[in-house]
Amino acid sequence: MKKIQFNAVTATYKNGEGIRRADFVLNPHEFLFLTGPSGAGKTTILKLILMSMLPDSGDVQVGKYNSQHISKKEIPLVRRQIGCVFQDFRLLEDRNIYENIAFVLRITGHREKSIKRKTFKMLAEVGLSHKRNQRPQQLSGGEQQRIAIARALANDPFVILADEPTGNLDPETAKDILSLFKTINERGTAVLMATHNQNLVAQYAYRKLELKNGRVFG
Ligand SMILES: Nc1ncnc2c1ncn2[C@@H]1O[C@H](COP(=O)(O)OP(=O)(O)O)[C@@H](O)[C@H]1O
Ligand SMILES: [Mg+2]
Repeated sequence: MKKIQFNAVTATYKNGEGIRRADFVLNPHEFLFLTGPSGAGKTTILKLILMSMLPDSGDVQVGKYNSQHISKKEIPLVRRQIGCVFQDFRLLEDRNIYENIAFVLRITGHREKSIKRKTFKMLAEVGLSHKRNQRPQQLSGGEQQRIAIARALANDPFVILADEPTGNLDPETAKDILSLFKTINERGTAVLMATHNQNLVAQYAYRKLELKNGRVFG
């Protein structure tokens, strides 16, 4: 049962901005919102989980890995158990939808037969099997985000980190994406979603952490 834990984490950029003494836990299978205005430190928290930034003091525990003891070689292993979803989808424009999902499975060394089985399964889970031969730019924003979510899930992560995943979507589509995350969470994947959209957050009873000027509340 994997969890994420921040223990008195301070992490600053050269200009002095960043996170101050953050303490929180994302429990196994939990859905947690990370809220707060732009510049509060939400993306910085996600960078610390991915260990693309390391604390100045304190430590971050991600499953069995700890930021204090991690080696450079192990950082890809930390990331392999995490799925990431971004505001701007980040799909590969020069490949079709099928390939956008299949390529992450190739990177992790799956055989062609299992790549095909898993990719079709992920496409079905987000309801877009019929779009598999199209290019990302032929899909709506909401559809592109569903594909990005399918890709994030392909390697069976224990947690999905979503950074403003509804930031480029209209309110109706944003709601659909939220209910997709809810379904994913009900199937057993933890979700940590960073958003400044208080309206959306208010519609769900999940636990909320609020960030203000690099400090975590609640
Ligand atoms: N690479 C960076 N170098 C310097 N300062 C940064 C960098 N990234 C973010 N910051 C600053 O750190 C603070 C938190 O940023 P961020 O975590 O991106 O906030 P949020 O995601 O909540 O909008 C902001 O004041 C921002 O300007
Ligand atoms: Mg951000």
